[in-house]
Amino acid sequence: MHALEIRNLSHWYGTRRILNKVNLTIAPGQIVALVGPSGCGKSTLLRAILGTDPPSEGEVLAEGRLVTEPNRDVGIVYQNYSLYEFLSAEENVAFGLKLDKTSLISRFIALPAYLRKRREHLQMARDFLKKVGLEAAMGHYPAELSGGMRQRVAIAQAFILQPKIVLLDEPFGALDEATREDLQLMLLRFYQENLKAKQRGERPQYTIIIVTHELNEAIYVADRVIGLSRFHTEGSQGAMVVYDRPCPVFHPDDPKDLSKFVEQREELRSAVFDPNYVKHHSKYVSFWDELSNDALAVAAMNSR
Ligand SMILES: Nc1ncnc2c1ncn2[C@@H]1O[C@H](COP(=O)(O)OP(=O)(O)O)[C@@H](O)[C@H]1O
Ligand SMILES: [Mg+2]
Repeated sequence: MHALEIRNLSHWYGTRRILNKVNLTIAPGQIVALVGPSGCGKSTLLRAILGTDPPSEGEVLAEGRLVTEPNRDVGIVYQNYSLYEFLSAEENVAFGLKLDKTSLISRFIALPAYLRKRREHLQMARDFLKKVGLEAAMGHYPAELSGGMRQRVAIAQAFILQPKIVLLDEPFGALDEATREDLQLMLLRFYQENLKAKQRGERPQYTIIIVTHELNEAIYVADRVIGLSRFHTEGSQGAMVVYDRPCPVFHPDDPKDLSKFVEQREELRSAVFDPNYVKHHSKYVSFWDELSNDALAVAAMNSR
């Protein structure tokens, strides 16, 4: 079962076509980087996946279920995610669980059960915050947290609901370089957890689409890069998927060897970002074909 399936998705704002027949399938446990020129429709696509702005045409399925409105299957983290300022980090993370699983009435009639649930939720929140490196800050309020810490809380808040997929829309854009690298490493650790879950025959927990304009970041954190662009040969309107290829998988302990990025970065620059480079839109759309060959071997080699 695909974590996400997008079928023939098109979107118009007024008479202006933004997205042109986007087709995409994402498997559980993939970390997919989505890149493309500014204004090409990346956030529009994410909103369609999230269910806040259903597409004008086509459909989105999260784990086989049609997405027509925001729901638990899809989570999102934005660049400047606003946490609840009056809740501590752990309460922020537990907040979604609370809303979902205990109603006001059940709190009233079954106070002890409610309190037990609440303790469970806070424990889950603390466990997850430990995992994202925030053990020491669990009781802190957002105003006491740095930008990087706030983003970790926001990411924990999204994943604690166990969505089928989480969307990250330029999540590290506002952070300084060192913090950004810490958060990139966090994603690499998530990916290692995915590989281990797969080895045990379990469903991997972290399926992610990350939008970034940093091509190095895209290649570093993801196992697959998708390029969305309106520079293609299929008519002049609307962005299509013009690039979909595997990229090298890094282990968090590996050096960030920039030489591994160079070729693919140049390929992306011309295939996705260069308005004069108009070629058949499917030339670089080969992820699933390549996966059956050597990418699998590389992924296996890199999992330790
Ligand atoms: N609500 C809206 N109404 C009209 N036009 C919009 C709206 N939202 C976005 N757009 C336009 O759609 C295009 C794609 O926007 P967006 O998805 O935000 O691009 P990206 O995230 O790739 O930078 C842009 O030209 C933008 O101006
Ligand atoms: Mg955007």
